[in-house]
Amino acid sequence: MSDDGLEELMRVVRSSARYRVIHESVVRRIAAQELSKRRSLKEAIKATRSKLHQVGGAYRQQQISYAHWCEKLAAVGQSPNDPALQDFCRQMMACHASTRERLPFVETFFTTTLQAISPLRSVLDLGCGLNPLAIPWMPLADGARYDACDIYEDLTGFMKQFLSHIRQPGEVECCDLVQTCPSRPAHVALLLKMLPCLEQQDKGIAARLLQSIPAEHILISFPVRSLSGISKGMEKHYQTHLMAILEGQNWKVSRHLFASELAFLISR
Ligand SMILES: C[S@@+](CC[C@H](N)C(=O)[O-])C[C@H]1O[C@@H](n2cnc3c(N)ncnc32)[C@H](O)[C@@H]1O
Repeated sequence: MSDDGLEELMRVVRSSARYRVIHESVVRRIAAQELSKRRSLKEAIKATRSKLHQVGGAYRQQQISYAHWCEKLAAVGQSPNDPALQDFCRQMMACHASTRERLPFVETFFTTTLQAISPLRSVLDLGCGLNPLAIPWMPLADGARYDACDIYEDLTGFMKQFLSHIRQPGEVECCDLVQTCPSRPAHVALLLKMLPCLEQQDKGIAARLLQSIPAEHILISFPVRSLSGISKGMEKHYQTHLMAILEGQNWKVSRHLFASELAFLISR
């Protein structure tokens, strides 16, 4: 189909508020892929919307009113140790499936997985979702930098305000990890519950991305929860998958299992 077809597809998909807040290059990449696979523009529009939902929308069961959360943020203290700020962070983290699942163990997740390399001099949170709100529970060094990225313009805009509110040095940007990885070097990169989501967009991305992340250590995690608790199947599947990706690399790996998440700290 012609370039006109792609522009028309972009126009239709981005006329919806739900998809307009997604970084344009992500929508364009997915739209172009779907256009080349489908028989008609109508089918490509449907498939593009469905893919965009799968890679981002599915984690936000409800629309997040950032204006409302900004007002609430302005009413709480600026220190990460402030109990009102921590309450705010917990409440807001419940708006995104990934951080909501981590809430029951957020107090130990980062201190346990990152103990060997604490305190953290700088963090690069890739596909961050609402995870920067967990900063109060992270073992950051004084003056540490926190950089983060995601595909949502509204989410990254809010996170910039959050970092500025708690006076945390760092940047939050829109990105498409399938196309490029941020290049600022970091002590540790977080790739939390990201590989399955990125592999839905590009099957071969994992090894390539791990090579290109400019960090000394990478904390990678996978979801391992079924309705009945930890699913041995998911745990085994993701562990085998990661070990296959890391084969041939002389990287040190430590494993940490939580109620609904399996994490690996990888050190090069
Ligand atoms: C499973 S959630 C994980 C969120 C966060 N890392 C956490 O564990 O709380 C996947 C996140 O990846 C983001 N995402 C999806 N595709 C992406 C891409 N191509 N580049 C960057 N981020 C992406 C989504 O918007 C979503 O916030």
